[in-house]
Amino acid sequence: MRFSSTAAALAGAAFLPSVLGYPGMDKLLGELQDKAKRQDCCDSTELIGDLITLSDSQLSPVGHLVKNIIVGNASGESNEDYYNVPLLNTASCAADTCCIWQYIANTMEASFRGASGRCTNAARAAVRLGFHDAAGWSKSTGPLGGADGSIVLAPSEILRPKNNGLQEIIQQMQIWYNQYHGYGVSMADLIQFGATVATVVCPLGPRIHSFVGRYDSSIPAPDGLLPGPFDSADFLIDLFRDKTIQPHGLTALLGAHSTSQQRFVDTSRAGDPQDGTPGVWDVLYYKQTLGPKPPRVFTFQSDINLSEDPRIYPEFAAFAGPGGQQHWNEDYAREYVRLSLLGVYNINNLTDCTKTLPNAITTYVAADQWIVDLWVGTTIHLQAVADALLNGSLITNLLSLILGILLKVKRTVVETVATGSA
Ligand code: HEM
Ligand SMILES: *[C@@H]1O[C@H](CO)[C@@H](O)[C@H](O)[C@H]1NC(C)=O
Ligand SMILES: *[C@@H]1O[C@H](CO)[C@@H](O)[C@H](O)[C@H]1NC(C)=O
Ligand SMILES: *[C@@H]1O[C@H](CO)[C@@H](O)[C@H](O)[C@H]1NC(C)=O
Ligand SMILES: *[C@@H]1O[C@H](CO)[C@@H](O)[C@H](O)[C@H]1NC(C)=O
Repeated sequence: MRFSSTAAALAGAAFLPSVLGYPGMDKLLGELQDKAKRQDCCDSTELIGDLITLSDSQLSPVGHLVKNIIVGNASGESNEDYYNVPLLNTASCAADTCCIWQYIANTMEASFRGASGRCTNAARAAVRLGFHDAAGWSKSTGPLGGADGSIVLAPSEILRPKNNGLQEIIQQMQIWYNQYHGYGVSMADLIQFGATVATVVCPLGPRIHSFVGRYDSSIPAPDGLLPGPFDSADFLIDLFRDKTIQPHGLTALLGAHSTSQQRFVDTSRAGDPQDGTPGVWDVLYYKQTLGPKPPRVFTFQSDINLSEDPRIYPEFAAFAGPGGQQHWNEDYAREYVRLSLLGVYNINNLTDCTKTLPNAITTYVAADQWIVDLWVGTTIHLQAVADALLNGSLITNLLSLILGILLKVKRTVVETVATGSA
């Protein structure tokens, strides 16, 4: 993401031919135009919600901040801290909108952080839930859909095949909602807050600006707005553009698959991760999607096709390269702020409760990573390992199981070679 003034430069250049036309001018202009198209193709800068109609003088501090974040003029990350959190059920807690969110953050954190330090299945599902609630919106649906809680509140949404796998986190959100609704907490906020708490709990994940005050809706989001793992790059790029998310933003958001372990795309490989460090918010997903990758890493066809598209590849490769982690975290945070506010028309009235989030973890290597490496290197599906990784456990006690399989495979290879049957 880089703030671009090429469009303005080009608007100026368009007047040039009448003033100083010369041979080759058209070609030069064509090149300039192509360059502008490439740059302006890819960064999301469009305004959303009530920010479209409010003038700068009408903006609240939060309105200003959100506007600056989504146009690429302020960071979507923050380390802001919360001092002297009031006790729950006191008048001073009730007087501070963010106070209850500190207690919610603590509750969520406990279910999102596994014993190994990796984030859990619940954390990944919370990130995906935030995406699926908010992304049920497009520029043509206006006030309908978006980050409005309907993925939990409208019972028909969970029956849609693309939401398969979100059943448990939806149940959990309902439990949290029942627990905290009395404090004025909306489902829409709970879902988006769940996604940002989960992201920062995943080791190396960004601490994303988190706002509260969204309205709920129990009207189902318009159907057909969520992506599928067999969709083409052209289709997916257009789908996200209709949500104001341009290719660079999509490239950053896709990296959420760095933590994931698919279960339903190929059920015979349930639990196989999308990179060699599931539960860790690192850039290995970008490297291994481009290849090479170990046998247990399962890459979605849509991720492969997108990574090869000229509108996606340069940024994808940059995230995979030197300095990629910081660059990605920054871009992901910015784009997630945008995503988390799609279909929200009271952005100017929201409250910034980023200070309640857990601290970011900026360096991390799992104690059992070498065993995970052995596992992702195996060609045989080991459900027990996949399950232990799913819930964020250490897999140290599964070492002998993995070694047994590796030795068996090796013996089979040796025997096959010895009998000459290969
Ligand atoms: C081209 C766009 C995308 C496609 C086609 C896609 C598709 C999928 C599929 C098929 C799964 C596996 C579900 C399963 O079998 O369990 C998955 C998992 C996941 N996706 Fe995406 N996704 C896309 C974009 C995103 C975005 C933008 C985010 C977040 C910002 C995201 C976050 C996740 C997470 C966290 C998981 C893991 C869920 C879990 O482990 O329960 N995805 N995605
Ligand atoms: C960018 O941010 C700076 C300070 O934060 C502000 O002065 C400037 O007006 C902003 N520019 C835009 C385009 O919003
Ligand atoms: C994905 O890419 C492959 C290889 O380029 C191509 O054969 C396939 O048609 C693409 N899939 C879609 C859905 O576009
Ligand atoms: C914003 O808050 C003010 C004061 O509480 C309220 O009057 C107004 O209706 C709110 N606007 C929106 C769009 O919710
Ligand atoms: C996680 O999975 C492991 C292995 O399947 C199991 O022993 C452990 O009890 C599970 N832990 C939790 C918290 O679910």
